[in-house]
Amino acid sequence: MVEPLKVGLAGLGTVGTAVVRLIDKQRDALAARCGRPIEIVAVTARSKKKDRGIDLKKKRWLTDPFALATDPDIDVFVELMGGDGEPAKSAVEAALATGKSVVTANKALLAKHGMTLAGLAEKSGASLNFEAAVAGAIPIVKTLREGLRGNSFHRIYGILNGTCNYILTRMEQDRLSFEECLADAQRLGYAEADPTFDIDGHDAAQKLSILASLAFGLKIDARAVYVEGIRTISLADLDAASELGYRIKLLGVAVKTESGIEQRVHPTMVRKDSAIAQVMGVTNAVTIDADGIAPITLVGPGAGGLATASAVVADIADIACGTRTPPFGRPISRMSVSRKAPMQRHEGGYYIRFMARDRPGTAATIATRLAEQHISLESIVQRHTGDRPPANGRKRTPEPVPVILITYATSEDAVRKALAAIKRDRVISGEPQLIRIEKN
Ligand code: HSE
Repeated sequence: MVEPLKVGLAGLGTVGTAVVRLIDKQRDALAARCGRPIEIVAVTARSKKKDRGIDLKKKRWLTDPFALATDPDIDVFVELMGGDGEPAKSAVEAALATGKSVVTANKALLAKHGMTLAGLAEKSGASLNFEAAVAGAIPIVKTLREGLRGNSFHRIYGILNGTCNYILTRMEQDRLSFEECLADAQRLGYAEADPTFDIDGHDAAQKLSILASLAFGLKIDARAVYVEGIRTISLADLDAASELGYRIKLLGVAVKTESGIEQRVHPTMVRKDSAIAQVMGVTNAVTIDADGIAPITLVGPGAGGLATASAVVADIADIACGTRTPPFGRPISRMSVSRKAPMQRHEGGYYIRFMARDRPGTAATIATRLAEQHISLESIVQRHTGDRPPANGRKRTPEPVPVILITYATSEDAVRKALAAIKRDRVISGEPQLIRIEKN
């Protein structure tokens, strides 16, 4: 009889229990596909007593994840505890050091210690598989690492955080406030334990750093990602974007530029007719621009028990089948250091919204300051909110009016310089809103 692949599973939350169920349900299909059965032989979690609705009677229960990771009777250690520190870090390190393959969904651990872990795997010949760490069920890790191994990449961009996409979608479609939508996302279980991690862009940044490593051979470093979240996006921005033919998404973008690989996460205007703009709610999507092929967009569930379990089980199955790839698609010695690209050098179109003083000369001042920086406008919209100013302009100060500009491609440095000059000229009030436009 063929020996089963023996799995030790650490973490029995939503994803862990879904993995137990999926392996049970797909037992025969997995055995047929891999040529050997997959068996979860031992587990560990915080509470043994909790009723999880799964049968754990035939599995050994260990109290210590480290002991499970080094247990001589397991072949693979599946880490679903989360967190970039202990116990996940030591347990994964110990498993890899002793030559046991590891499957993890832990983006935070990879973003912080990915290179050390890949080094351990390289040394011991173990596998380190992490399909579930980015975009849930979407097989983006394998697509970049194996499926498109023969191509060079220009740009990878995507919706990597379901919570932010859910919030932006609900705000736009149901005309709700940011706070109301965030509360709903938390109630529905999409957000991280600390939702600031989602809405300030850090969750997407960790995922992007993993994708950038796979696509461009960069040593993972989430600190090299420029990050802005979605807190400042208002209904006024979503409406203006829509009128001008755009939608606002929190995108993670890794792109090859003349000054290196730019890695950035920020609210982004995308054309309404693009594939990425159609992705609504908690769904994730990644578009790949690679040599010689039209862009490929993968869309699917980015979080949740079953979606994540689907990727975890595929990774376990790879080990059962004997498929082994360097974790980041190439040996560490062939990877280069990630550097944070200076955003002043970023080139692209910009959406700018500010409140302008509604009096003669304002438009001329704005136009002059933009022209000084060689910024050309694709659109300009000024909206009256109510009363027109008196004809002689002397009797009272008119209310500021919203002005929305869309620029053609320019540099961020030029835009920021023009806005600073416009502010000094005192023709606008408050802080301008600036959103980068991504060509797609
Ligand atoms: N909080 C994450 C999201 C969950 O909203 O996408 C999956 O990483």
